[in-house]
Amino acid sequence: MTEHRVRPRVLVFDSGVGGLSVAGSIHKALPGAELVYVADNAGLPYGDKTEQVVVERCCWLIRESLGRRPCDVVVVACNTASTVVLPALRAVSDIPVVGVVPAIKPAAACSGNRRMGVLATPATVKRAYLDDLIRTFAADCEVVRLGHPDLVRWAEDLVAGRAPDQARVNLALAPLRDAGVDTVVLGCTHYPLLVPWLRKALPEVVNWVESGDAIARRVAYWLEQSGQLAEGQALPPKTEAVVINACFTGDAPSDLVPFMSAMGIPVGDIAGHWPGTTAAGSV
Ligand code: DGL
Repeated sequence: MTEHRVRPRVLVFDSGVGGLSVAGSIHKALPGAELVYVADNAGLPYGDKTEQVVVERCCWLIRESLGRRPCDVVVVACNTASTVVLPALRAVSDIPVVGVVPAIKPAAACSGNRRMGVLATPATVKRAYLDDLIRTFAADCEVVRLGHPDLVRWAEDLVAGRAPDQARVNLALAPLRDAGVDTVVLGCTHYPLLVPWLRKALPEVVNWVESGDAIARRVAYWLEQSGQLAEGQALPPKTEAVVINACFTGDAPSDLVPFMSAMGIPVGDIAGHWPGTTAAGSV
């Protein structure tokens, strides 16, 4: 049976809570759209997994979610997953798939002293596509890459009610302070959640550049292409349960409800240990 929906619906996928920063940007740009959130936090961090495992887990979970809650666009709101999963996902998906890349181009456009930092996971800083982005868009900049193993965990802890330790954040960001960068690219979707602590650690940084707004524009483009944007925008903004469903493959973070309300993306149904089956079949 075909489901009748009034609002456009977007699936936002990440390995954990990082995609919430992207969900926030999508809601800001498209307040009439409803969102479904899927986080593979039982598989986090994706940076430690082989490419094959990341592709299998993403395709399985996104397919499961779409089977239960059809959507109009899928957003892979994870840099690590986007580097490997997009071709496989596009091959099996009949709706548009939007990925995320570190925002090197806009960062290069706004750096005044031509010194910038790329803050990402240890996996993302090593990817060849980052070399290509830097070569193409920031060839005249000195670019310092910082792949830190703990920042994703600190963002996860934040949504579970434990704020990061500022002294540890200061220490983690010391290489960027020493390099005198005026611009930092947040090359992991978890990191915008940590911006208050990052700003305190590097008060001299002028530009903190993330990818959320660019992703939201891409989602709007696809909804426009399928004729849903005019309708979606004409709808009143969603005030209750912007994220109609949030599914976590592990435990749902304990402070999720207040955290998302404070972000302006209140959540409806929450599922932990979702979907209750393994990629191969039953539990
Ligand atoms: N939010 C993911 C990203 O943007 C976290 C990466 C991971 O799970 O390793 O890369």
